Amino acid sequence: MRIPVTSRIRRLACATINFTLLLWLPGPAGADADAGQNATLERGRYLAETVTLCAHCHSAPNDAIDGRPPLVANYAGIDCPVWGKDENPRGKDSQDFVTSKLCEPNITPDPATGIAGWSKADIIRAFRDGLRPDGAPLHPNMWLNLRAVSDEDADAIATYIKTLPPVVHEQPGRGRVLSDRIHKASLATLPPSPAKTPDRSDEAAYGKYLTDIGRCRYCHTPNDAPGRERKGKAFTGGARYWVGGRYLPGARVVDTPNLTTHPEGIGALSRADFITLFRLRGSGRAATLATNTVMPWVTFAGMTDQDLGAIWAYLQTFPPQPTSRPLDYEF
Ligand code: HEC
Ligand code: HEC
Repeated sequence: MRIPVTSRIRRLACATINFTLLLWLPGPAGADADAGQNATLERGRYLAETVTLCAHCHSAPNDAIDGRPPLVANYAGIDCPVWGKDENPRGKDSQDFVTSKLCEPNITPDPATGIAGWSKADIIRAFRDGLRPDGAPLHPNMWLNLRAVSDEDADAIATYIKTLPPVVHEQPGRGRVLSDRIHKASLATLPPSPAKTPDRSDEAAYGKYLTDIGRCRYCHTPNDAPGRERKGKAFTGGARYWVGGRYLPGARVVDTPNLTTHPEGIGALSRADFITLFRLRGSGRAATLATNTVMPWVTFAGMTDQDLGAIWAYLQTFPPQPTSRPLDYEF
């Protein structure tokens, strides 16, 4: 049967209207937007609390637990000693005088003592490019590895940081501690930040990404100078750290272990063993200054099996090499 033209037009119009109505209905479309926003926030929370160590570095540590996790992950910063020029424990002519004043600032949105008013772009510029909104450079210890965070993950992290409850915490010793020259020189050694996070289906690529943004490579590779990797020695260990602050009585040296598949490294650990090691060491075991470590065990234990497995898979791609020896002045 032939449908009259007018009727066909009406039906078409109806179909268009229904379709348009569906798009406009607040129900499904709004729910999608909410789900997208929740997924971004959740990704930002996951990264900030575990892999990228934002909470770990920017909250006061609990020295009585293995791996010194935050006492409370409140991002309110850590107090650190402030020395006058003549009181610098390394001597007033020491080259690294400035580092003695470096402390982790309050990054909650408190108007007086935190970073209220910073936009997402300001926060991202701080942790990837090492610049404050006023143009002052931040110490590369904070951003050398975070430069590798992708645009999409950086956005997720900044979205999450902006939702933190403000905490009032005034800190001594803030201020400009780094020269523009050192900032520029450090930045010039690094590739630009990637736009995309590698696909999880490519385990080694995703694992590489996690070891970059999670500081694994930074801590587990020896240096020839502060911040400069020893060539060809990735993940061979031998970077030197002080547990409990370099100048405190009882502070202890730890040299990072080898994460290559060499017998001195983690060659004997299967994927399952590797994940179990993080679950055991990260279970909140008691520790003292004499036994504690700078390895963020509890913080990393918040990572999924899938992510820890991807890190293990990536580490398998390195040639077995013996453990490197640290330089004396590393810190
Ligand atoms: C290894 C420790 C460490 C990690 C990890 C770290 N930070 Fe920082 N952060 C610092 C230190 C130290 C400073 C101060 C640097 C300076 O004053 O030169 C800082 C400064 C900042 C600042 C500038 C605040 C201000 O008032 O100047 C922001 C914002 C910031 N960090 C955000 C983050 C975010 C977001 C993350 C996670 C993606 C992160 N940080 C991870 C140690 C860290
Ligand atoms: C702040 C520096 C630091 C960071 C960041 C860090 N590590 Fe460590 N790691 C250490 C130190 C120091 C030790 C040795 C002390 C200990 O076992 O607690 C260690 C120990 C380990 C061990 C045990 C090795 C063994 O033979 O017992 C593994 C595995 C490991 N780290 C993997 C990682 C991975 C994976 C990452 C990144 C997700 C990472 N580390 C990030 C400092 C660090």
